[in-house]
Amino acid sequence: MRITLPELVRRMPKAELHMHIEGSLEPELIFALAERNGVALGWDSVETLRQAYAFEDLQSFLDIYYAGASVLLVEQDFYDMTWAYLLRARAGNVRHAELFFDPQTHTARGVPFADIVGGIGRALDDAGREWGMSGALIMCFLRHLDEDDAFATLEQAMPHLSRIIGVGLDSSERGHPPEKFARVFARCRELGLRLVAHAGEEGPPAYIWSALDTLRVERIDHGVRCVEDEALVRYLAAHRIPLTVCPLSNVKLRVFADMASHNLRQLLDADLAVTLNSDDPAYFGGYVEDNFAAAFEALPLDAGHAYQLACNSFDAAFLPPQAKAQYRAEVAAFFAAHT
Ligand code: HPA
Ligand code: ZN
Repeated sequence: MRITLPELVRRMPKAELHMHIEGSLEPELIFALAERNGVALGWDSVETLRQAYAFEDLQSFLDIYYAGASVLLVEQDFYDMTWAYLLRARAGNVRHAELFFDPQTHTARGVPFADIVGGIGRALDDAGREWGMSGALIMCFLRHLDEDDAFATLEQAMPHLSRIIGVGLDSSERGHPPEKFARVFARCRELGLRLVAHAGEEGPPAYIWSALDTLRVERIDHGVRCVEDEALVRYLAAHRIPLTVCPLSNVKLRVFADMASHNLRQLLDADLAVTLNSDDPAYFGGYVEDNFAAAFEALPLDAGHAYQLACNSFDAAFLPPQAKAQYRAEVAAFFAAHT
C-alpha cells in the first residue's frame, strides 16, 4: 500500500536520540503537577503559559523550561511526565528512545537523585514490558554551572550508573565551551559511560571540534553550524559522527528563520549521519513525527531520505548490534510494504 510522504515519515519505525524529558512537560501537566504539589507558578492559566512560548533564542526558552520543571518534586511526578511522553512517542512509532534528563535542575531544589532516576526509569521499564519499546537514560550536565557542580552530580549518580547509559552537556551554549568540562567527561569515560554533547546549535564550529577533541564525544547534539567549517564537515562524514538534529527546535529558537531555510538537506547531501529528533516537544510545537512531517513538507526530501534517516536513527543509537539489526529489519519491512 502506498501512502503519502508525510504519512510515511510519521508512521515509519524510528529511534529518538535527542529529547529532554523535562521538555516533554505539556502546560496542562505543568499545571496539574503544580496543583498536586502546591507549587506556585508565574502564570495564571494554561493559556498564558502557552502564550509565553514565543522564544527569541536559546536562553529565552531555557528560562521558561527551568520554571516549568520546578513542579517536579517526587518520584511519581517523574514517572507521570515520562509515561506521558512515552505514550506520545509510541503514537509516532518510536521504537527506541534515549532520554536526556537534567539532574541539577532538580537536586538544586532538594529532590533526591534516586527519585528522579527511579521515576523516569520505572516508566521506561513499563513501556518495555507493555509494548516492547527500548529506552535508555542520558544524564546531562548543565554547562552554565561549573565543573565542580558536574563532579558533585556524578558523585550522586554513582549508585545509579546501571540505569544511566551516558552523559551529555546542555543548557546555555554561548560562553560555555565544551572544554570547560574536559575533566568530568574524562572521568565519565573511565567509568564506561557513553558521551554526547550539545554543540553547534548557537555556538560556533570550534565548539563542535572541542566536543570531539577534548570531550571525545561519540555524537553531537544539534551540530547544524558545522557547515561553516568545510574541514569539520569532512571529518564528521568520514568518522560517521551522528548529528542529532531538531528541526522544529531550530526554527522556534531562531537558529533558522523558517523550515524552508533549514540546512537538513545540505547535511544529508554532505553524507553526514543525521538523525531527526524533537528536543523539547512540548515547547517547540511537536513530537518527533511532527518534526519529520514539517521537514519533509518544507524541504526537497524524498522517500530515500526518509529511509536513510530511519536507518541512521538506529545506527546512531546506544544499542547492541543485534538490537540494531532487528530494528533495521523492521525499517526495511515497513518500507517494502509502503513504498
Ligand atoms: N539546547 C540546550 N539545552 C537544552 C535544550 C536545548 O535545545 N533543551 C533543553 N536543554
Ligand atoms: Zn537539546
